[in-house]
Amino acid sequence: MKLYALSSTEELLEKVDVLCVPASKDRAEFVYQDLLTRIIHADALPPLQDFLAMKAHPAYFFGHLNGHRVKVVYWCDAEKLTEANTYSLVKKMAIKVRHDCAGKPGLWLPHLNANELIQSAFAGWTAGQYDLGLYKQSDNNHKSGSEDIYTLLPAGVTEDVARNGITIGLVQQEVMNLVNTPASHKSPAYLGAWASRSAAQYGYSATVLDKQDLTTMGMHALLAVNRGSEQPAVCVVTHYKHPEATKKIIFIGKGVIFDTGGISIKDSKNMHYMKSDMAGAAAALGAVEACARLKLKVDVMAITPTTDNSIDGLSIKPGDVISSYAGKTIEVLDTDAEGRLVLADAIAYAVKEYKPDVMIDLATLTGSIVAALGPQAAGLFSKNDQLVAELEAAGNSSGERVWRMPMFDEYHDDMQSDIADIKNLSEKPYAGSITAAKFLEYFTSEHASWAHLDIAGMGFQPNGFGKGYCATGYGVRLLIQWLSVKG
Ligand code: BES
Ligand code: ZN
Ligand code: ZN
Repeated sequence: MKLYALSSTEELLEKVDVLCVPASKDRAEFVYQDLLTRIIHADALPPLQDFLAMKAHPAYFFGHLNGHRVKVVYWCDAEKLTEANTYSLVKKMAIKVRHDCAGKPGLWLPHLNANELIQSAFAGWTAGQYDLGLYKQSDNNHKSGSEDIYTLLPAGVTEDVARNGITIGLVQQEVMNLVNTPASHKSPAYLGAWASRSAAQYGYSATVLDKQDLTTMGMHALLAVNRGSEQPAVCVVTHYKHPEATKKIIFIGKGVIFDTGGISIKDSKNMHYMKSDMAGAAAALGAVEACARLKLKVDVMAITPTTDNSIDGLSIKPGDVISSYAGKTIEVLDTDAEGRLVLADAIAYAVKEYKPDVMIDLATLTGSIVAALGPQAAGLFSKNDQLVAELEAAGNSSGERVWRMPMFDEYHDDMQSDIADIKNLSEKPYAGSITAAKFLEYFTSEHASWAHLDIAGMGFQPNGFGKGYCATGYGVRLLIQWLSVKG
């Protein structure tokens, strides 16, 4: 995507056919005056009072400049633009304009007078160029987002700010692509190949631990989940380190390529959503790629234990006892609670091998968090109040919200097994997302700065690109925001 930042409204209008104007009520009058003086004849605009009270989204107007006709798309549905609502507004506009308007679009933003808003606008615009029709043969020339973008920025805002936003949007497109790709077209090796290609392209490192490595290392829980699969498990490890970085941060992502439930098989209704069970891995890998592309002054790794959860004569069976990287034994009462098994190994490995200062895992872990929070926030589980406060702040400003859940030790009692060190299922009919988090905690060696994000409700939901559920790219903006504030 090539960016053309022009220096006046007139110059922009000469280049574009569709002028996109995301606005808020507090700047609507400014926008109105500019439309009137530069673009649209008074007859084609409602009187100021009616314009300010306008409820239709978006509103279309037509302007002329030197005989060139311009369609103005004006969308104003917030009192005041924040980073979070600028992102979502511009993303909605991009989807709408891409669908409805022919011709070259431009983003008119002189009223967004803060760098953060400009960055969010370009991230939203770029993410909105995503094309969900991955396998539609009819529009092969219409693939995701490489269109040029013309814009007018506010005085004093540099193009770099817009470019960083575009980078974040492009990473989100890649993450969405990974998650939307069906299991027929992805595998553990495919995720590994994605990471290796990305690392080579953007100057960071990627290691794909294969089944042989995992066996040597003793990743018994990941291998147990993998037993019923044709495709061998991998654990992808990516690493980007800026020379000035001081703290080691690790993102761990659940990479279940497709979750049938295993022998504890899932209901077939909505089972197709389970191609998204690697959304945590995609977000972790995407966040590291974004750090590398933005050259943030951080030291970050992604570790993604990756396998299918399939059904076969070799699959683990309910009641089986397996071992783990940490050496702890696990009674597997439900083979559908597989995410916590693969994460247990990755978490224990991260702590032992890399001794991170901060460790955050992202996982589409439980239906229970969807019941609790729906599609509005990820469940946040941590005993570290400061880390919680930081992630809450990053969630609120990015719009990728999190909501803290309790981690009382009494919940751990529900995970005690009679025959092994721990069981993977609380047989109680409540608090499923919390007992899952307590299971993970058991493998952290009481790490002082660990947080778990249950993103089962956030990774895959209706979000404008199609009629049904699809990937959101959740996590990338949250983590980048958190890292940027942390410095
Ligand atoms: N991948 C699922 C969780 C999930 C559910 C993700 C809905 C996205 C949307 C996970 O592996 C799972 O099956 N969890 C079980 C755990 C239970 C057996 C303790 C669940 O939540 O039902
Ligand atoms: Zn499952
Ligand atoms: Zn799962």
